[in-house]
Amino acid sequence: MIGRINHIAIAVPDLEAAASQWRDQLGADCSAPQDLPEHGVRIVFVSQPNGKVELMEPLGDASPIASFLERNPEGGMHHICFEVDDIIATRDRLMAGGARVLGGGAPTTGAHGNRVLFLHPKDFCGTLIELEEVTG
Ligand code: CO
Repeated sequence: MIGRINHIAIAVPDLEAAASQWRDQLGADCSAPQDLPEHGVRIVFVSQPNGKVELMEPLGDASPIASFLERNPEGGMHHICFEVDDIIATRDRLMAGGARVLGGGAPTTGAHGNRVLFLHPKDFCGTLIELEEVTG
C-alpha cells in the first residue's frame, strides 16, 4: 500500500547549525533555509540520490514541532513520509483496520503542495508516519 519513502524529517533546535554540520561533516547537499509559515517550520532540504531528508526548526509561536523539541532538546527523527497513490483509499483502509489518523482523517496540504495525512505514532512502533499523495 505504501510506496517510496519521500522524506525523513528531523527536528532540530538550530537549523543553521544543523545544516552546516550536515554540509561540512557529512558532505550532504543542503538547500537554503525556507520558511513555511503555514506549517510552522523552517526547513533545509537535504537531497540524496535515493531520497530527501528535511531538517526542520520551529517557526512561530504555535509550531507543531515545538513540543517534540521540548522532549528532545537536541533534536531527533520526527517522522517518515511515504508516498501513496490514493490518500483517501489509503486512509479508509487504515481506519477500517483500526489505525488512528491525526486531525480526524481529513487530509491537509503538505510542504510540497500535495495532500498529506499523519498516522498516530502509538499505532506504528512509536514512529510518526506521514502519507503524501503523489500522482503521475
Ligand atoms: Co514531512
